[in-house]
Amino acid sequence: MKVRLNRFLSLAGITSRRKAEFLILEGKIKVNGKVVRDLAFKVNPAQDEVEVFGRRVEPQRKRYIALNKPCCYLSALEDKNKKTVKELVRGIPERVFPVGRLDYNTEGLLLLTNDGELANRILHPKYKLPKVYLAVVAGIVRDSTLREMRAGREIEDGFAKPDSLELLRTYRDNRSLLRIVFHEGRKHLVKRYLGNFGHRVLRLKRIAVGPIQLGNLPVGKWRDLSKRELKELFRAVGLSYELRGSD
Ligand code: URA
Repeated sequence: MKVRLNRFLSLAGITSRRKAEFLILEGKIKVNGKVVRDLAFKVNPAQDEVEVFGRRVEPQRKRYIALNKPCCYLSALEDKNKKTVKELVRGIPERVFPVGRLDYNTEGLLLLTNDGELANRILHPKYKLPKVYLAVVAGIVRDSTLREMRAGREIEDGFAKPDSLELLRTYRDNRSLLRIVFHEGRKHLVKRYLGNFGHRVLRLKRIAVGPIQLGNLPVGKWRDLSKRELKELFRAVGLSYELRGSD
């Protein structure tokens, strides 16, 4: 797969895409021994030899991380006022980014990677990768409402229907615990969907993304995905882990 030269340089951890453009325009970058000043130039990371100031650039090792995001962190790498998940994955040399987003106050499994293609596929509805959530909602959810919730409904930005929905328990103080699965990732989808049935989400936690389970990862901690998990994840989105040589 070919990528733009500035993108390659940013993925390799050299600099940001924008600053990489300046390096290219200044003639500081060589590809296969020749200076390239064309911003649209694409390279094949597996074959082309890229040099910056005469030094060979090694493509960055691919890294795949599961984080148990606590409440009150943004799924972003930078923000002026709020804490971001970047603070929780400090010390990782690769420039990993969150795969999609969890709301500021949503907890649970957030994948981070520097593998753009895998990230795109995890998020693309075409691959139908199920995202599993536990939602504590206001009120006792009745059987008739559960049936309606399962059938799907038109919400503000189109029709939505969970892949599955179960009532796990009800609480004496008039709350219910639901397990809900969606394979798409529209903004605030779970909250908006359940809210549409009159059940406001009080607490939301993601416990799985496709074959990757949150398990007992402590809140605020991260771990590398295992080889077995990666193989399953790649397979789930139509990629081969072996062919990518991500080891
Ligand atoms: N749906 C939501 O409403 N919020 C999230 O963070 C994820 C899914």
